[in-house]
Amino acid sequence: MITLKNVILRRSAKVLLDGATVTINPGEKVGLVGRNGAGKSTLFALFNGSLHEDGGDFYVPKQWRMAQVAQDMPETEESATDFVVGGDTRLAELRASLAAIEAAYEANPDDADIGMELAHAYTDLADAGEHDAVPRAQALVLGLGFKSHELDEPVNSFSGGWRMRLQLARALMCPSDLLLLDEPTNHLDLDALVWLEAWLQKYAGTMIVISHDREFLDAVTDVTLHIANAQLTRYGGNYSKFEDMRALQMEQQQVAFSKQQDKIAHLQKFIDRFKAKASKAKQAQSRVKALERMEKVAPLLAEADFTFEFKEPGNIPNPMLSISNASFGYKAPEGGEGEEPKTILRGVSRSVLAGQRIGILGANGQGKSTLVKTIAREMGALAGQVTEGKGLNIGYFAQQELDVLRPQDNPLEHMVRMARELGSAVKESTGEQALRGFLGSFNFSGDMVKQPVGTMSGGEKARLVLAMMVWQRPNLLLLDEPTNHLDLATREALAVALNEFEGTLMLVSHDRALLRSVCDEFWLVGRGVVTDFDGDLDDYQRYLLDEAKRLREEAKVAVREAANTAAPVPRQDAQDRQQRSDQAKPIKREIAQIDERLAAAGAERTALEARLAQPLPSADIAEAGKRLKALNDEIGRLEERWLALSDQLEALAA
Ligand SMILES: Nc1ncnc2c1ncn2[C@@H]1O[C@H](COP(=O)(O)OP(=O)(O)OP(=O)(O)O)[C@@H](O)[C@H]1O
Ligand SMILES: [Mg+2]
Repeated sequence: MITLKNVILRRSAKVLLDGATVTINPGEKVGLVGRNGAGKSTLFALFNGSLHEDGGDFYVPKQWRMAQVAQDMPETEESATDFVVGGDTRLAELRASLAAIEAAYEANPDDADIGMELAHAYTDLADAGEHDAVPRAQALVLGLGFKSHELDEPVNSFSGGWRMRLQLARALMCPSDLLLLDEPTNHLDLDALVWLEAWLQKYAGTMIVISHDREFLDAVTDVTLHIANAQLTRYGGNYSKFEDMRALQMEQQQVAFSKQQDKIAHLQKFIDRFKAKASKAKQAQSRVKALERMEKVAPLLAEADFTFEFKEPGNIPNPMLSISNASFGYKAPEGGEGEEPKTILRGVSRSVLAGQRIGILGANGQGKSTLVKTIAREMGALAGQVTEGKGLNIGYFAQQELDVLRPQDNPLEHMVRMARELGSAVKESTGEQALRGFLGSFNFSGDMVKQPVGTMSGGEKARLVLAMMVWQRPNLLLLDEPTNHLDLATREALAVALNEFEGTLMLVSHDRALLRSVCDEFWLVGRGVVTDFDGDLDDYQRYLLDEAKRLREEAKVAVREAANTAAPVPRQDAQDRQQRSDQAKPIKREIAQIDERLAAAGAERTALEARLAQPLPSADIAEAGKRLKALNDEIGRLEERWLALSDQLEALAA
């Protein structure tokens, strides 16, 4: 159990918690939510002991093993697999102690006590999962979207985002009682995200996760901790339940309510536009869902007190852009003798018209960012032509854009520098007072315009980059995962602003709510080409699952081969028999558990199928269908595991 009693927590002059009292019970799955800069990451620093309370009492059981994602970029020549296996700290400890005992045994082969110790060390290792550590690690790595041929590649060969995925896999590899995840979905694509949800649903310990992704939180949490105004409040329910409860609370406050009415009027504009435009029946349906959510979110937006808009672009060329028979990808490195350029996409011929709102879909690593980067002129096309309309003014937002911020400089200095660099190209007032006012409209007020960017929270930095982009008055927005780090209210503000934006929009995002609410059409990037995706996001989810299945089939073969070559634990002849039976025990135990779970899951499946045979409201059908799918997946996984375990038993008996 974790308890906070009247805890006070400060960061320089800011009081982030002022008398927080809350309890987290063992096994609970907790979502930690709150506005950007509310103090969520700081609270994690308290949990993991790198920061201490400034007052009150904080308690976490000493014997709890804690796992968390390291925030630094790993630098090592170790292979991806080994790096992730290294995350299993218990295994590492046991391997070290075995090595010590083996040395002692070598020196003293006749000592019966040491012999016994040795036997125990072997069994402990087996119990800790030594025999399948490699395939377990590889399953994590593959699940997070790596290709099977990348398993043995050195960590250093991967790009930043992918190395952070390896950090995540390493944390998941670590057996733990408490798992702390700070925005784990930021570096993930939609398909890796779906995989992570499934993994976390099976996690047995206590989990606390910080996230701004509503659907993700709903999928993996059942308790919500809300941090606001230096208070910490516990709600028994996932994010949607929390939102409902909170909306209710707020409605009861008259002031908040009237404020909310203003915002709803603002939202209504969005709604009208939506209704007028929804000509395609299927897409209309998913838009209605988005709409319902917007209405529910209104109270939250009221609280946020933060909206912004893109200024009307000066002129809009049409077409904005035309691409003819182009190939996109990476040039061979300079001096790379005989190296071929790496073509990711070929035969791309498309135009982008004024006012289009395109969502760019595609599984991991298929080239979404490559496409966007080429259009943004960050890299050249390998072949063919990209012709820009006259007066095209691109606003490009990408994850790595956060790196363009200078940690020592404050927001005002960033704006002043940008205004100077762009000079007369922008018809905006560039005086310091005007820039301060502009920053204020993005919620950088008072002291914050002078706070060094390096000390700001992730969301605060992302908001600054967004502000800088808006200021440049683009007519084509290229947004590559723009919502990472942004809190929900800011995401909603972004969604509203994007809906009112009069230029053209191209969006890559794993935020399903955002894609639904701002895109009218979708492009699919996959298997080396760009095509129109004729369907809605539910169809897309199915596409991803099928695609993932195909890749998993490929990967499974690789994992099996790896498992077969994994070195067996060496054995001592004398204790062999005893050890085998000791090794068989946990396997038999797990088989029994699986049998039990299979029976229960089978029964639930039968019941569900019976239920689906009856006439039901469509929402229930969807719900039951989803559950059925989850069950079938689980049963599939269990059966596979059961087979693997039986194989192991047989091998032991042989
Ligand atoms: N060294 C510091 N000096 C001044 N202010 C700081 C310092 N470190 C953090 N802060 C401020 O403390 C607040 C809390 O930061 P924290 O990183 O905990 O926020 P968060 O809730 O995790 O936000 P996000 O959702 O954006 O990640 C922020 O407003 C941040 O600017
Ligand atoms: Mg944070």
